[in-house]
Amino acid sequence: MEKRIAVLPGDGIGPEVISSAVKVLEVIARRFHHSFEFVYGSIGGAAVDAYGTPLPDETIALCEKSDAVLLGAVGGPKWDQNPADTRPEKGLLAIRKHFGLFANIRPVKAVPAILHRSPLKEDLVKDVDLVIVRELTGGLYFGEPSRKTHDAAVDTLVYTRVEIERIVRSAFDLARMRRGKVTSVDKANVLQSSRLWREVVEEVRAGYPDIEVEHQLVDSAAMKLITNPAAFDVIVTENMFGDILSDEASVITGSLGLLPSASVRTDGFGLYEPVHGSAPDVAGKGLANPAATMLSAAMMLRQSFGMEEEATAIEQAVQTIYEEGHCTADLAGSGVRPLSTEQWAARVAEEVDIQSVSN
Ligand code: NAD
Ligand code: IPM
Ligand code: MN
Repeated sequence: MEKRIAVLPGDGIGPEVISSAVKVLEVIARRFHHSFEFVYGSIGGAAVDAYGTPLPDETIALCEKSDAVLLGAVGGPKWDQNPADTRPEKGLLAIRKHFGLFANIRPVKAVPAILHRSPLKEDLVKDVDLVIVRELTGGLYFGEPSRKTHDAAVDTLVYTRVEIERIVRSAFDLARMRRGKVTSVDKANVLQSSRLWREVVEEVRAGYPDIEVEHQLVDSAAMKLITNPAAFDVIVTENMFGDILSDEASVITGSLGLLPSASVRTDGFGLYEPVHGSAPDVAGKGLANPAATMLSAAMMLRQSFGMEEEATAIEQAVQTIYEEGHCTADLAGSGVRPLSTEQWAARVAEEVDIQSVSN
C-alpha cells in the first residue's frame, strides 16, 4: 500500500520520539512492501518561532493531503508567557478541532516484562487492560466565553447532546469488541453538563443491551483507577477528566512514556500522538522513552490503514525488547543501565526486522 503520513515533531522531546517512530515505520514499510511517504510540518512552539502561529495554514494543508498524522508533542517554558493564541498548546487544540477529531482513544495495558517498574503492587497491575475514551473537541477546552482580566477569569464547560452521544457511542462500540463493560465518568452530583452526559449514556445504553454500564463520579474514579485498575474495561469521559485520568493511569504501567493515543473521527482519518508532553526537563539528553510514539504509530497502522499484522509487529517488538531487559532511563531501576532514546529505538527497529526472518 502507498500511504502519505504527515509528521509533526513539535517541541522538546517531540523530534526525538518522532525520529524513533519513523525509523520503525521505515522498517515496517520495507518488510511488508509498503511505500510510506513522510511529509514534515511545523506545529507548536517551533511553528510560533518560524511562522508566528502554532498551527500554520501550510501544516493544515499538508495534513489534509495526507492519509494520517503522526505528532510528537508541543510546548515548553520558552512560550509559557505567550498570549493564548500564540501558545504552542493552542496549535494542538486547533488541529484536533479543525479535523473534527472528537474521540481520543488512550489504551493502558500492563507490559508483563516491566510490571515491577510500576509503583503499584504487581498483583494489582498484571491484568490491567483498559482504554480511556476521552472526548476531545468540546468541554472546558473550547467553551466560550474564555477570557482573563487582571481581576477575574472565566472558562466555560459546555456540552451538546450531539457531542456527548457520538463519543459515548464510540465507547460502546469499542466495548463490544473488548470485554463488554463501559464506565462513564462524570461529576453529575455537581455539574449540569455531567447530568446531561449521564442522561445521554442512559439513552445510548438502550441500544447496547449486551454491554455492562456503570457510572462513577470522577473523584472516586480517580481513586479506583489506582486501587483496582484491572476492574476497568472502557472508560468514557469528557475532555478534561480524560486528560487528567490518563496521566494518572500511566502510573499503573510504570511510565508516562509508554502510553499511545489515537485522536480520530468516524471516517478512519486520525492524528496519532503519545499521551505525554514535550518533557522539557529531559529534552535533548537521550532520556526520552519513544515507546508511546512507536505504539501510536502502531495504532495508526491498525486504525487508519487497516494494517493489523504490521501494527502487531511493532507492539510485539516493543514487548520483546522489554523482555530482553532493555529500557530507557524512565524505566531503569537502580542497577539497570538504560539505553539512550536512539539506542533503544534501534533495538526495536532491529527486532521488527528480525521477526520477518523468523516468521
Ligand atoms: P510532560 O508529559 O511533558 O512531562 C511530565 C513528566 O514525565 C516529566 O518529568 C517528563 O520528563 C516525563 N516524561 C514525559 N514523557 C516522557 C517520555 N516519553 N520519556 C521519559 N520521560 C517522560 O508534562 P509537563 O512537564 O507537565 O508538560 C511539559 C510541556 O508539555 C508543557 O508545555 C505542556 O503544555 C506540554 N504538553 C504537551 C502535550 C502534547 O503535546 N500532547 C501533552 C502534555 C503536555
Ligand atoms: C494531552 C495534552 C494536551 C491536552 C495539552 C497540551 C493541550 O495534555 O494531549 O493530553 O490537554 O489535551
Ligand atoms: Mn494531557
